[in-house]
Amino acid sequence: MKISTVLTPSEITALPSKDLGGTTAVVFDVLRATSTMTTAFAHGVAAIYPAQDISEAWDLRKKMPNALLGGERHGEKIEGFDLGNSPLEYRDRPGREIISTTTNGTIALRAVAHAQQVIAGALLNRAAIAEFLRNHPPSRLLLVCAGTGDEFAIEDGLAAGALIAALAADDLDDAGRTLLALWHCHATDSLAVLAQSKNGRRLTERGREAEVEWCAQVDVCPSFGLLDGGALRPFLAS
Ligand code: MLT
Repeated sequence: MKISTVLTPSEITALPSKDLGGTTAVVFDVLRATSTMTTAFAHGVAAIYPAQDISEAWDLRKKMPNALLGGERHGEKIEGFDLGNSPLEYRDRPGREIISTTTNGTIALRAVAHAQQVIAGALLNRAAIAEFLRNHPPSRLLLVCAGTGDEFAIEDGLAAGALIAALAADDLDDAGRTLLALWHCHATDSLAVLAQSKNGRRLTERGREAEVEWCAQVDVCPSFGLLDGGALRPFLAS
């Protein structure tokens, strides 16, 4: 399995025009979009529709009046939406469909929507994704770090490195080797990395440290979101 890695939002903007046939893309937005999606699926959410922007989210809601609207701008709930982007808010919505728009995470998911398979990755579900990829190895694996605003986010790189470690993969680009080394340095203290990250400090300043702690857990969720016809749906690895 050949693994390539995208580290920054500026690289993500180039992905829609790339040929991603035969590619499985795993998108990481650990603080918080893909951790929130992972939490939602672990608690019975039926589907999450990643919207490109707020107006697309409202248009989708007109077509799906029973769906909840979730997401954030500048880290806070969007006016008129049902939910923000805290993973802790998504633990009591079993069976619901959710339309989500976030600053980086849903943009990254949409940028690779034409890949053969698209997975929402996190530290929370790293083992489940690794098991799936070991059982169904793609010819190419693309790890996409969604970032924060215009910048690389260390927590996304840590989760990508954790997945590379779990796959024991060695056909890596240099960015992948760097993320693997990052994981090897911090495999036992993911919370410290998240807490010291730019996003982690911002969330802590707003009294949201419980969310950072939640997202720093490793291998605790048995499923992941797999994109299928415009919606992520829960997939149980085993
Ligand atoms: C994003 O998609 O940029 C993030 O998940 C932001 C956040 O949750 O605050």
